[in-house]
Amino acid sequence: MEQVRNDVRNIAIIAHVDHGKTTLVDQLLRQSGTFRENQVIQERVMDSNDLERERGITILSKNTAVRYKDTKINIIDTPGHADFGGEVERVLKMVNGVVLVVDAFEGPMPQTKFVLKKALELELPVISCINKVDRPGARPEKVMDEVLDLFIELDADEEQLECPFVYASAKNGIASLDMHKLGDNMEPLFETILEHIPAPKGNFDGPFQVLISTIDYDNYIGRIGVGKVERGSIKTNQEAIMVNEQNPELHKKVKITKLYEFEGLNRMEVDQAEVGSIVAIAGIEGIHIGDTVCNAEHPEALPFVKISQPTIAMTFSVNDSPFAGQEGKFVTSRQLRDRLFRELQTDVSIKIEETDSPDAFKVSGRGELHLSILIETMRREGYEFQVSKPEVLFEIIDGKKNEPMEIVTIDVPEEFMGTVIEKLGKRKAELINMTQSKGGYSRLEFSIPARGLIGYASEFMTDTKGNGILNTIFDGYAPYKGEIPTRSQGSLIAYETGESIAYGLFNAQERGTLFIGAGVKVYEGMIVGENARLGDIEVNVCKRKQLTNVRASGSDDALKLSPPKVLSLEQALEFIEEDELVEITPENTRIRKKILD
Ligand code: GTP
Repeated sequence: MEQVRNDVRNIAIIAHVDHGKTTLVDQLLRQSGTFRENQVIQERVMDSNDLERERGITILSKNTAVRYKDTKINIIDTPGHADFGGEVERVLKMVNGVVLVVDAFEGPMPQTKFVLKKALELELPVISCINKVDRPGARPEKVMDEVLDLFIELDADEEQLECPFVYASAKNGIASLDMHKLGDNMEPLFETILEHIPAPKGNFDGPFQVLISTIDYDNYIGRIGVGKVERGSIKTNQEAIMVNEQNPELHKKVKITKLYEFEGLNRMEVDQAEVGSIVAIAGIEGIHIGDTVCNAEHPEALPFVKISQPTIAMTFSVNDSPFAGQEGKFVTSRQLRDRLFRELQTDVSIKIEETDSPDAFKVSGRGELHLSILIETMRREGYEFQVSKPEVLFEIIDGKKNEPMEIVTIDVPEEFMGTVIEKLGKRKAELINMTQSKGGYSRLEFSIPARGLIGYASEFMTDTKGNGILNTIFDGYAPYKGEIPTRSQGSLIAYETGESIAYGLFNAQERGTLFIGAGVKVYEGMIVGENARLGDIEVNVCKRKQLTNVRASGSDDALKLSPPKVLSLEQALEFIEEDELVEITPENTRIRKKILD
């Protein structure tokens, strides 16, 4: 029989990196009376892992629970970085609503959009929490509008648009429904959660099913599967069956020896848990994300979010330099291998493969950041090894090569815009959007093959003197676009469009592709192809179209066009030999035809 668990709420906290998710959960924990007076409280209790604390980012989702009045609120903290995007979707499957935290100064950021989109797609009710209202320059009213605009952009339905707004200073532990008058504590947020997030409901009496959504690891009890009881009630010392929808072969008899629910930051052992509860199950060897633990007589697997495929690989190998063994205590290939394979227990987006050499392992993950965190964690643990340059993993479908794409969102002061556009252009990025953001910053959005981003983050930091913000989000696969040119090649061409002259580099190796090389400035109002991007133009899909507000600058020694300018044909001839020039005339080539089409 379907019943409602009025004593429980399951929520996820979603936000862009640094908007204050962890601080907010800390406050809810503190104020729900979870902490005793004399308990030592670390500054941010949620991020237990040292590396997380140092980098200030949440890597794996954490479960916690607070009590407010008679209700237990299970809170799932979600990772803030897009490389771990699959995890966000999985934890959202466990909850009945989300609290979207948005910085009252910064407003919605790329990750805000990404996580909100996921929540809306799953039809979850959203509470928007405008945080950091104490910040100098906070603009809660504007940010509220921006959040609503985002809801509209993401096609939120009427009900979702009615979402309540709570204003908070998580740092000071206060919240309010009125942006002009802050309260004394977090009660307004607790109350809003109780009121707007539906209680979980389900069949109390049916054969039990628990869908495993995350994996924890504990040195004492080993591997722990965490998930929601989707039906019935689970008890300890019960025979059960573990099944998996995507892996029909998995049909394993198991015994529930230890069962936990969350209380504060701890796991508390329980004998039984009902539908709607979030539980941790220990003692099942090989338990995996996506498995369903169910009643032994009714082995029915629940459907589950597909795990995203890795996009970047690196080879980890034993250090063979003359200085090997000086920094780490674990140096052998056996130690390296064991450590890497252990990582598979908690991180489902990682893949480890043996290679031809017993000293080297191919490690694939969800992006450069994902792998760099693993590398750093292992180095801190005392593992000494070397890593190769990252390599992008292509997807081959019907013999065609597809490459992983990323959406890059960049906020930069205007003075650095030219350099960023130029550099990314060379890396095959396509500028897809450009808007003015606050404080003299511009926001640029690019679509770029993942391999174009390799090594870019540090270049970006240097180019923007540390003033830029860069975010990337995995954007599926697209047909392979050819090699990323390392330098300009081909010869200069010029063509008249009737209103102005555009010019670029014609790459002889890729017929039909016109590169607008570095050093070329595309002026406002200049006529270029529809798909023109700073970097290249696919001439074969060109249509006449005016791109406004597109600017690029830079210099290219090969062209000696500095400062860049729009050239007449005669001027273009000063830079190239006449026989190198491909002039696009009505009689000329397929390129011309496509431009005129
Ligand atoms: P990730 O774990 O990386 O996803 O970040 P997060 O969203 O959990 O952010 P976190 O709680 O770590 O906060 C980021 C920074 O913002 C920290 O330096 C906090 O002290 C600060 N912060 C959080 N809440 C507030 C607030 O209400 N006011 C002010 N002024 N600062 C805050």
